Amino acid sequence: MRPRRIRGGRTTALAAALSLALAASIAAAQAQASPAGTPPTTRAAEPPHQYEVSGPATPAQRTALTATGASVDEVHARAVVITADRAQAALVRQLGYRLKKLPDPPRTPASSGRIKDFPDGYTKYHNYDEATKEIDTLVAKHPDILSKQVIGKSHEGRDILALKLSKNVTKDEKEPEVLFTAHQHAREHLTVEMALYLLNEFTSKYGSDDRITKMLDSREIWVIPDLNPDGGEFDISTGEFQMWRKNRQPNSGTNEVGTDLNRNWDFKWGCCNGSSDDPGDETYRGPSAASAPEVKVVSDFVRGRKVGGKQQITAAIDFHTYSELVLWPFGFTNDPTGPGMTQDEHDTFAAIGKKMAASNGYTPEQSSELYITDGAIDDWLWGDQRIFAYTFEMYPSSNGGGGFYPKDSVIPKETARNKDAVLQLLETADCPYRAIGKEGQYCKNKG
Ligand code: ARG
Ligand code: ZN
Repeated sequence: MRPRRIRGGRTTALAAALSLALAASIAAAQAQASPAGTPPTTRAAEPPHQYEVSGPATPAQRTALTATGASVDEVHARAVVITADRAQAALVRQLGYRLKKLPDPPRTPASSGRIKDFPDGYTKYHNYDEATKEIDTLVAKHPDILSKQVIGKSHEGRDILALKLSKNVTKDEKEPEVLFTAHQHAREHLTVEMALYLLNEFTSKYGSDDRITKMLDSREIWVIPDLNPDGGEFDISTGEFQMWRKNRQPNSGTNEVGTDLNRNWDFKWGCCNGSSDDPGDETYRGPSAASAPEVKVVSDFVRGRKVGGKQQITAAIDFHTYSELVLWPFGFTNDPTGPGMTQDEHDTFAAIGKKMAASNGYTPEQSSELYITDGAIDDWLWGDQRIFAYTFEMYPSSNGGGGFYPKDSVIPKETARNKDAVLQLLETADCPYRAIGKEGQYCKNKG
């Protein structure tokens, strides 16, 4: 049974005081871990581990926990699961929490002779070359409804692809556009399978499945299947999953590699203790907004969808794993409304989000109910581009289901599980405000 989730993220005086106390003790612990004057120690290249941490029970406590540089991977009523290296785990212990190490992800048996690829039990996952081949095959088979563009390159020079699905795909028609992105975080391989599922499902069922046919006839659907190809390949490069989250961009002046792409977007970047300025941390935000080439490439692509000053993309989902959540902005603040989000906008986000969650069985909530994040893609897509943008955290609900590394046998079920939610979002994309019954007020010019 799922543990009861914490609801409601209002900052109370108590929570604020508590988080100040935690911040102070983190500062003390950090000072102890690397005394002033000594050069920062290089963190071991060994992969980080996951730990269950008992105690944190509020968004403020969880946000304070992320200040150690660990990533928070699961949220429960009175506990979380984190990914931490040795130093980060020590900082968490110094906050007074008890840590229980969870099992590490599997390795490929050396006998298989297969390195630089997914291990046994995972071979149905697509590595970068396999995904590219599958996409090229689909484009060749369905050139009228599927087209591929290279929108830029990753840090290591891999192509970042955008696939367009629509009737008359070669023409830019005046249709609402919807964006699906995947794999910002390297170890979240199931999200690439989600993107490939959408490409396969929509091309193979165009003309036979009514809802799909209607959507390809009346929408322009964009799929960016792999935002972080370098990180994904690195994660499977040694025969042992690396638990890697960030991209593979070096950080000058340190031996630490990588920026957390989902803290690097150019809206309220680094504003609110929702990311780290330490290059060694899991949630390192980068030296400046959109400093990661992958984020710059996709930001420019999205900006490029403005026609006559009007953003054509109206709705989006960014796929992550794991926890089975439907999240909406903002992440940088606990406030459900405020600057950049009216009550009607919030209500629209919540109405669509809850309905999608009812179809896939995920838990719907504003993303800051987990913990504060700044520089996340959904905050940028909404805050800067006014796109109704969601984050889906896919299967499993907890570490017991395989955490970041569920076996490939779950791929068909756990990707198809989101078909209805995806179609719902596409269907609402001509006027999201219909979800709150205010089509007349907000979408008068839509026909
Ligand atoms: N696991 C995701 C991350 O840490 C959750 C992000 C939630 N915040 C958001 N703005 N979507 O990046
Ligand atoms: Zn993620």
